[in-house]
Amino acid sequence: DWNPGNVIAEQVERIRAQVGDARVICGLSGGVDSSVAAALVQRAVGDQLTCVFVDHGLLRAGEAEQVEQDFVAATGVQLKVVDARERFLTALAGVTDPETKRKIIGREFIRVFEDAARQVVEDAGAHGEAVEFLVQGTLYPDVVESGGGEGAANIKSHHNVGGLPDDLQFELVEPLRTLFKDEVRAVGLELGVPEVIVWRQPFPGPGLGIRIVGEVTAERLDTLRAADAIAREELTRAGLDREIWQCPVVLLGDVRSVGVQGDGRTYGHPIVLRPVSSEDAMTADWTRLPYDVLATISTRITNEVPEVNRVVLDVTSKPPGTIEWE
Ligand code: XMP
Repeated sequence: DWNPGNVIAEQVERIRAQVGDARVICGLSGGVDSSVAAALVQRAVGDQLTCVFVDHGLLRAGEAEQVEQDFVAATGVQLKVVDARERFLTALAGVTDPETKRKIIGREFIRVFEDAARQVVEDAGAHGEAVEFLVQGTLYPDVVESGGGEGAANIKSHHNVGGLPDDLQFELVEPLRTLFKDEVRAVGLELGVPEVIVWRQPFPGPGLGIRIVGEVTAERLDTLRAADAIAREELTRAGLDREIWQCPVVLLGDVRSVGVQGDGRTYGHPIVLRPVSSEDAMTADWTRLPYDVLATISTRITNEVPEVNRVVLDVTSKPPGTIEWE
């Protein structure tokens, strides 16, 4: 029978055997996967682990704070924060193709990591060994959808599997590679990761970069962050967090439509709500959210986010639609 205690015991042994005395670095995104992977590696090798939080500017409102307050406070893990917002914006300038965005974000992410790793070695002083291992919170569905599983098609190159650059300088530690999301949550709870993180809805590694259809700009990110924060706040207020698997909020950056506010004509962008129900993200159904919750979200977004004059609901299951729009 499957049991989180056994998974932990088995993985702790595997991790120790793989990394030996070397230093290990882990990218914390604030999500369930990287947090549980980090907690698992910390359980295995303790202070050999340094976590790095890359602020790529594609995060949602308040996420940096959540990593620092919730996770670090609970685990006491060593954390290095890197502000790479400008770098990612520059790399993404003018790019509209979804796969190109994913590859750029994955490539930049690894490069920032390599810089951070060098810094970690310097900070460790004269006796620091080179960082040799990189922890990734890759789950089984990510492996399958990136063509890593048997007979799987490459549907989207998930940046933590398919988008790695050829000059990668780390060996990967992927302790969640055989697990589905519900299993990762069980392992996280068993490890003492705070419930607020364990029950957090999935958020893709490339972040808001793949939730803006069209070019990613600082202004569009601000618009999407504001709309997303409102949607999340209202879904939480309505007590729907555990009922929905996740609710991507997508900005159609290259689409405009005509609206009216007061006496004025507007020509703004639509925001798409994509609430889905799922067991493992391999398939999904669109969630029948209560109309009054949808109405509140729509009214608030169009009142509070000036660039948005229309809110639309995605009523597509997966397949045929993927959960994310890109
Ligand atoms: P799709 O859009 O393929 O998404 O139906 C399935 C699940 O995976 C998440 N997702 C990602 N997670 N890195 C991740 O760690 C990625 O590049 C990535 N792309 C999609 C998505 O949010 C959904 O939960």
